[in-house]
Amino acid sequence: MEIVNVTNLIKEFPLSRGLTDILSRKRKTMRVLDNVSFSVLEGETLGLVGESGSGKTTLARILLGLIKPTSGKVMFKGEDIFNLRRLNKLEVHAVFQDPDSSLNPMMQVKDIIAEPLFNTKMSKKDVDENVIEILSKVGLTKEIATRYPFELSGGQKQRVAIARALIKKPKFIVLDEPTSALDVSIQAQLLNLLIELQGEFGLTYFFISHNMNVISYISDRIAVIYAGQLVELGTVDELISNPLHPYTKLLWACVPRPDPETKISVKDFGEVPSLINPPPGCRFHPRCPYAMEICKSISPTLEKLNNIHLVACHLFSRR
Ligand SMILES: Nc1ncnc2c1ncn2[C@@H]1O[C@H](COP(=O)(O)OP(=O)(O)OP(=O)(O)O)[C@@H](O)[C@H]1O
Ligand code: SF4
Ligand SMILES: [Mg+2]
Repeated sequence: MEIVNVTNLIKEFPLSRGLTDILSRKRKTMRVLDNVSFSVLEGETLGLVGESGSGKTTLARILLGLIKPTSGKVMFKGEDIFNLRRLNKLEVHAVFQDPDSSLNPMMQVKDIIAEPLFNTKMSKKDVDENVIEILSKVGLTKEIATRYPFELSGGQKQRVAIARALIKKPKFIVLDEPTSALDVSIQAQLLNLLIELQGEFGLTYFFISHNMNVISYISDRIAVIYAGQLVELGTVDELISNPLHPYTKLLWACVPRPDPETKISVKDFGEVPSLINPPPGCRFHPRCPYAMEICKSISPTLEKLNNIHLVACHLFSRR
């Protein structure tokens, strides 16, 4: 069953205006998300992977009801996410990459975690009990409750952020690069904790990362975003064993290997295009080794190849 449904989402940001724009009263915009559609199924982890600047955090902020799209719809359990956010009924919480910017440095851990409950009718005693319970669920001792964020390690801070996201027992959690600031061994512990909590609380995750190893470890399905457009979406097995879009193949080819001699980077294949003036046709064509004439003028649409795999590429288009 679908828990979130996103249809034809477009997000444009206004660009700062030069004098000629002001005089001509033109308002130039940058399209950061272009016609994005997908669903998240109840209980799954949908991973979103793509390079820096491709629109991942913008999409996360829209799913959280923090910013409105320019057009398109985001439904949560069949209701418009922005109506739910306005009515304070949105059961969606978030964990971001940098815990320092999301944890108030002036508050003790117990208050940081409990804050989402402050405007509910829960008694102080129940709030305290909930905090102690959730601390143990995220693998922290109750001694941590009276500490301040600066007294915690990076991994502990992210556990606090997860506890805070869980305290109101949400159904859907948006995780925007939650492990990328951590050491590899701490990353693995946190990913395993997220998997455990998902089973225990019946959570659905939208998990953002630019790291293919991380995304394939935690996800059930993966969506690949390039310059604001979804270019491939499929089950994790399918995207590992049968990646189709040349960009997905490039991301796999650039996964770090032990041998530094064979190390390649996505940057070796050019830069992500500017979203102010993206290339016509397929946005990936300037970097694509398979680009054909049609790719320079016609943008491919995300087409369903079968029940588990969608791709936006003229190599697979049925037209
Ligand atoms: N509020 C805003 N106003 C104007 N432009 C914005 C705003 N927020 C994001 N952008 C622009 O939108 C584009 C996509 O940004 P976004 O943060 O969504 O990318 P991202 O995929 O999360 O990147 P990263 O991997 O670096 O976190 C960038 O060019 C960014 O500068
Ligand atoms: S549509 Fe063309 S340029 Fe774009 S990924 Fe496919 S082959 Fe490459
Ligand atoms: Mg981001």
